[in-house]
Amino acid sequence: MNDDGFIRIAPSVLDADFGRLAEQIAAVEAAGADLLHLDVMDGHFVPNLSLGVPVVASIARHTRLFLDTHLMIVDPGKYARAFVDAGAGSITFHIETAPRPADLISQIRKLGVKVGVSLNPGTPVEDVLEIVEQVDIVLVMSVWPGFGGQQFIADSLKKLELLAGRMSDEQWLEVDGGVTVQTAPLAVAAGADTLVVGSAIFGSPDPAEAVRRLRRAALSAWSGTGPQP
Ligand code: DX5
Ligand code: ZN
Repeated sequence: MNDDGFIRIAPSVLDADFGRLAEQIAAVEAAGADLLHLDVMDGHFVPNLSLGVPVVASIARHTRLFLDTHLMIVDPGKYARAFVDAGAGSITFHIETAPRPADLISQIRKLGVKVGVSLNPGTPVEDVLEIVEQVDIVLVMSVWPGFGGQQFIADSLKKLELLAGRMSDEQWLEVDGGVTVQTAPLAVAAGADTLVVGSAIFGSPDPAEAVRRLRRAALSAWSGTGPQP
């Protein structure tokens, strides 16, 4: 986490119009998005399917944004290299899928990308504390993973506060799920520096304006002005 008020906005393409994906990504990139969040689902770890390696490779050819890749799959170690070869800038795995997280972290690190760990709403924050120093990113799920458009789970704020106290300026503390202009300032006040946002951006008639609005809302947590409409 950082204490200089810099917030990364990471649009999640899960809620984008996949028929107009390149155009929609270009719009959020031009509006100042910092990362692009790619949700990979396997129908086993989560009850949904989304995008895979070929889609990541296509996206990489159409954007200069850093590809923040969130693997909601049962065997992240098996597919990490394929996603890196496709252009992923980071690989985030779920702690619930990793019996030996330290081994998985070093395996991913050898691929030359940032390493992230994520935890579900039902997973105690203690489960990641032992490895927090070994990762570049901690991704706190503030909804149950699998679907966009759900309500932010307020208990996630406690996890963010605890993790923010354990992480350095160089590490990213991401929050993912239900982030809107209303909840973004709460997450930032709790210590999140990277906001993953799906439906509040791509479900909006003007995704570019939604990015700018979210950044203003997030920064209001620092200036104490409250959410901006
Ligand atoms: C949920 C995904 C999220 C999702 C967020 O499983 O990990 O990245 O796209 O969508 P919203 O912002 O609509 O909750
Ligand atoms: Zn995600």
